[in-house]
Order: sequence, then structure tokens, then C-alpha cells
Amino acid sequence: MFIQQVDRITIHILSSCLFSLQELQSSGRGRFLLEHAAPLSAFLTDSFGRQHNYLRISLTEKCNLRCQYCMPEEGVQLTPKSDLLTTQEIITLAKLFVKEGVEKIRLTGGEPLIRPDVVDIVGQLCKLEGLKTIAVTTNGMNLTKLLPRLKEAGLNAINISLDTLVPAKFEFIARRKGFHKVMEGIHKAIELGYRPVKVNCVVMRGFNEDELLGFVDFTKDLPLDVRFIEYMPFNGNKWNFKKMVSYREMLDTVKQQWPELEKLSCETSSTAKSYKVPHFQGQISFITSMSEHFCGSCNRLRITADGNLKVCLFGNSEVSLRDHLRSGASEEELVQVIGAAVGRKKKQHAGMFNISQMKNRPMILIGG
Ligand code: 5AD
Ligand code: SF4
Repeated sequence: MFIQQVDRITIHILSSCLFSLQELQSSGRGRFLLEHAAPLSAFLTDSFGRQHNYLRISLTEKCNLRCQYCMPEEGVQLTPKSDLLTTQEIITLAKLFVKEGVEKIRLTGGEPLIRPDVVDIVGQLCKLEGLKTIAVTTNGMNLTKLLPRLKEAGLNAINISLDTLVPAKFEFIARRKGFHKVMEGIHKAIELGYRPVKVNCVVMRGFNEDELLGFVDFTKDLPLDVRFIEYMPFNGNKWNFKKMVSYREMLDTVKQQWPELEKLSCETSSTAKSYKVPHFQGQISFITSMSEHFCGSCNRLRITADGNLKVCLFGNSEVSLRDHLRSGASEEELVQVIGAAVGRKKKQHAGMFNISQMKNRPMILIGG
């Protein structure tokens, strides 16, 4: 492992020494490299050359909803509070990752907006030099109340979960009331100028696959990006292949109604395939985690609420950054631990049938 680590650092140093600045500036490729140069450290680059500049931090395992696809009916055993990362620990880790080249941090949960100090956390993250985007994935229940303060603190991107446009179905899937609060939250985000406001919709056969066209209509007059997500298996969520509606099937359904649907270009690391009905204000996207995985361009790392670094959503390997922090590890040592974990990241996940057999923490404990 150590050798692999050294190799990656060596390649990084060599590649930066191979060209002089002048040579770089004068060639077309050189100009391209300079313009697109990521200040990313070798520690966040894995053995397949993937550069991890996007970190997702789970702020809490708790949630005020109980979505069927996310958590088992009986709930999950929550980690004792003393084992969760403190605000200071979150900021220390974030600072370290940003110093190594992370440019985007997404706060997830459980439901991140039920953590009492979430506005303070966003405010402190906002001060980190080099961090370009602070995003949140929320169920929208507390959004109307909190968004003005979050925006003021520096939150600049937002994803809101909404799986149905029918209030009674919301209560069935989330096992709680809340449809109108979430809708109000979506409109608040639009009013406060978030563009686009991303809406996450997990599509499940027999539940909401008949609402695809309704969600497309939802983008007609609103600046939304409705993201249809393929249903993924996690422990206890009763995933079954027949309940998953694939990207191709969803796209066919939408195209039958909207044959003129336009494909939009997207960033290489994007997990979304985006489309737009001409003249609609918003757009739709498909997150094809199951049928067409995007492991090859994955740039994400995750920290769970209890401080474990997870290099792959579907991998079981985790390393406790919290334990290293609490035993007094230096910044240098922490970077080594992170680099070693990134170095162990596999090329791709085991495929949709294998991951459905795997023991994986329920979504709520992994953090969106
Ligand atoms: N499959 C797909 N997406 C899921 N999410 C949670 N559980 C699943 C699952 N089983 C996504 C939802 C939610 C976010 C927190 O995680 O889109 O918006
Ligand atoms: Fe809560 Fe989001 Fe999971 Fe639903 S999907 S139970 S809102 S964390």
C-alpha cells in the first residue's frame, strides 16, 4: 500500500515537472491542462486516476420521515451521540479535505436540517478558501423556516426529495405527513433564487412510475431539475429487481409523450443524464446508479455521521477518521490515512445483482 501511495505521489510530481510553464502555455494541450488544472493532491487521486474533489458529509442519522426505500420499517439503531462527529470535528475534517483539493461539499443525513447547528456548520464551511460549492440534500420538511438563514450563511445548491405529487401517496411512502411542507420548501428555494432547484424522485414500480409525466409537467413553468433516480438496494429496504424502473424504460415513457425531448450536455463527473422538453423552464435528469453505473468517473467520497470515511457508496470498507482525530493524529497522519483509503478504492461496484445481495448499511446511516 505504501508503495502504491508513493507511486501516486511520484507520478504527480513527475507529471508536474515534465513541462516547463512556458512549454505548457505555448501548446494547445498545455493551455488546456493549465485551464483545467485541478489543485488536487495525490492523496485524493485513486489508483485509476479518479480525482475526488467532492465530499459528502452526513450530519446526522436521524430523520423526521421514514421513507420506505431508505429505512426499514422497524427503524435503525442510531449511534450514541458521543460517537457522532462534533461540529468542530466536522469543520476540522472539511478543512483538511478542502486543503487537499475538495471543491464541493454536500451535507446529507438522515435529514441534515434537523441538526440544530446546521446553519453554523454552513457558515463555517463557507469560510474555507477553495471550497466552491456547499450543497445540501434535504427532505424539505424544515426548509421554509431555515432556508433564508442557510442562504445567508453561504448555502449555494439544494436537492429536495419528493417522490410523488399526490399527498396521500407521500404519506404512504414517507410513513409521515408532510407533502405540503415539502412543496412549500421547493417554492421557497425557487423564491430565494436557487437555480436549478433539484428535486430527487426515487422511481419504484407499483408506486410512482405512473407519475413520470406529471413530474415532467412540473418542470414546465418552474426552474426545476427533476431527477428520476433508479431504486437502489440497501439493507432492510426490500429492494427487488422488479420494483426497479430502469433509465431506458423511464426515457421511453417520457419520449412517447415528448418525442422532441432534447438531450443536454453534462460534466464528465456528473451522475445525471439530463434532458429538456423544448420551451419548458426546467429540465429532467436520470440517475442510473443501477442500470448504467458511473464508477469510471466517480469523484465522490463520503463521511458518515459517526466519522467513517467511505470511498464507495456500495463498498463495505470504512475507516474511522473520528478515532484518528480523537487519538490525537496530526494533520499529516490523517492525510496518510485518507490517502490509503482512497488508494484502496475499487474500480467499480460489484454490479446491480451482487450489490442487492450485499450487506450494506441502510441508506440513512450512509448519508444520501
Ligand atoms: N434508492 C435510490 N435513492 C435513494 N435515496 C435514499 N434511498 C434510496 C434508494 N434506496 C436517495 C433519495 C433521497 C436521498 C437522500 O437519497 O433520493 O433524496
Ligand atoms: Fe429521511 Fe431522506 Fe431517508 Fe426519507 S430518504 S427517510 S427523508 S433520510
